[in-house]
Amino acid sequence: MCGIIGYIGPKKVVPLIVEGLKKLEYRGYDSAGIAVVDGEKINRRRVKGKICNLEESLRNEPLSGYYGIGHTRWATHGRPSEENAHPHLDCTGTIVVVHNGIIENYLSLKEKLLKKGHTFRTDTDTEVIAHLIEEYFEDLLELAVQRAVQDLRGAYSIVAISTRDPNKIVAAKDGAPSVVGLGENEFFVSSDINPLLNHTKSIVFLEDKEIAVLDTGRVKFWDYKANALDKRVEQLAWNSLLIEKKGYKHFMLKEIFEQPQVIRDTLSGRVSLETGQVDLKETGLSEKVIKRVERILIIACGTSYHAGLIGKLMIESMAGVPVEVEYASEYRYKDHIMHERTLIVVLSQSGETADSLAAFKAVKSESLPSLAICNVVQSSIARETDGVLYTHAGPEIGVAATKTFTAQLCALALLSVHISTIKGIKSKEEIKNFILDLQKIPHNIEEILNDARVIEELSQRFVSYNHFLFLGRWVSFPVALEGALKLKEISYIHAEAYPGGEMKHGPIALIDEKMPTLVVVPKDRVYEKMLSNISEVKTRSGFVLAVASENDREISDRVDAVIRVPSVNPLLSPFLTTVPLQLFSYYIAVARGADVDQPRNLAKSVTVE
Ligand code: M6R
Repeated sequence: MCGIIGYIGPKKVVPLIVEGLKKLEYRGYDSAGIAVVDGEKINRRRVKGKICNLEESLRNEPLSGYYGIGHTRWATHGRPSEENAHPHLDCTGTIVVVHNGIIENYLSLKEKLLKKGHTFRTDTDTEVIAHLIEEYFEDLLELAVQRAVQDLRGAYSIVAISTRDPNKIVAAKDGAPSVVGLGENEFFVSSDINPLLNHTKSIVFLEDKEIAVLDTGRVKFWDYKANALDKRVEQLAWNSLLIEKKGYKHFMLKEIFEQPQVIRDTLSGRVSLETGQVDLKETGLSEKVIKRVERILIIACGTSYHAGLIGKLMIESMAGVPVEVEYASEYRYKDHIMHERTLIVVLSQSGETADSLAAFKAVKSESLPSLAICNVVQSSIARETDGVLYTHAGPEIGVAATKTFTAQLCALALLSVHISTIKGIKSKEEIKNFILDLQKIPHNIEEILNDARVIEELSQRFVSYNHFLFLGRWVSFPVALEGALKLKEISYIHAEAYPGGEMKHGPIALIDEKMPTLVVVPKDRVYEKMLSNISEVKTRSGFVLAVASENDREISDRVDAVIRVPSVNPLLSPFLTTVPLQLFSYYIAVARGADVDQPRNLAKSVTVE
């Protein structure tokens, strides 16, 4: 939540920062701001709303400066407004700060600072940082920042500049991401790599409780005790083309259509049909470790949680290991009863979700192996676990997760086979058939996408409904949950998902002609049961739209409309049944005029609790 950027170098700073903020906008879009240093002066501009408002303001009244910082906000403390927009100044107007995260002790810090005579102008937690730096300032900005961060509690990433110690940008972080880009005679600091892709491939990830000092000629790194650090420079593999819309109206649509390739990329180099094996040595988890595993705990939030629910069913079926899936935001506050042979899996696209990271830290222990399944390379969660299995989905810009969900399913399917092989659960033949089916999934998804127009047309019949019920059983229940979440988050339509069998325990009371039911009903072990649930809805005047298998001859007579998906191995059907639901939500949201890529109140990475 919130995107921050800093730049020092020969390029024109204002357009560069605005361009960078656009690439960070998915992290929050309640307000945006920029501060640049022009000689003795800090020039600042802040606006409520999206980066386009900032651009317009800068077009009407340009700002001049040589280096600077920018921010796009997802509001936590203080309503979205121009006054609360970052960057924030100290009392003297010579220090300016941007911040991502939450300063949990800001009220007590504010009280102390007020007593010392500081004047506050905003309702934000961030403003205390500017005043603390002011309080500790002697001659070097980095020393003032280093002292100020000792007082902060919470998760944060900050970037500061000051005219009292010019030509310098200082960044510090604890619990929120920060990455430094090393260009030719120019340096960047950012919340993620997206703004850097056009400028440099050489990057350094700041770890918790580290400080970076960027000046015109070099970058130095410190720990929080001001000891110099020798940091590893990494080379980026992603390129800037990956974050363009490439002719699609929205990132979300482009990302839905990228799914076949994403799954091919996530499988690539990891499966062999000849040997019927999956190679996940890259995770760093040895055969010995996997052999010992008797229980798996999956921790995740949102869409990743839904992928975890499907992963549970795949792992239990293929590898015979019991799996528990927990909402990270709940799990972190529970009593943790850990089985000593547990593998902890943290599932997170961004690798930055605060609750997932905190829940993992709450149970992390040297004796328990851990694995992150992440999309963002070197993200905080990926760096915290023993091993990582990356989903090769590329950057996902649309706030609604689509391609990263199916990529997570793919990673979980691979993990299930990997564990099964090591533990000798399924025969070679069974594994080989599963892999064969998995390899066909990209082609199966292409078949669905080729018919996207049919889903678009069908979806138009549902644009004005305000309530939806989604039903599914077994592997299709998490798909129903995911379909309902997509509809809620991008169309703002109320949608609930239930396991088909739970209907008669309450939700059936909701059914009437104003509430259509979307049933996920591939031909599998619960198909007949779902038919009964469909009848229960139909007899109560409910409209039923089914996502069903192409070889299902019966379903058309039972429901009002059908979307067909290829018939596949039932365990893998979520890869296919999810895609029509993504398209369905997308087309409804577009028809309702919603901002598909940047839905209200949301942000891509939830880096606050
Ligand atoms: O980056 P993560 O996978 O940890 O994110 C988890 C959720 O915040 C995320 O899936 C969220 O629910 C999306 N908006 C869903 O589309």
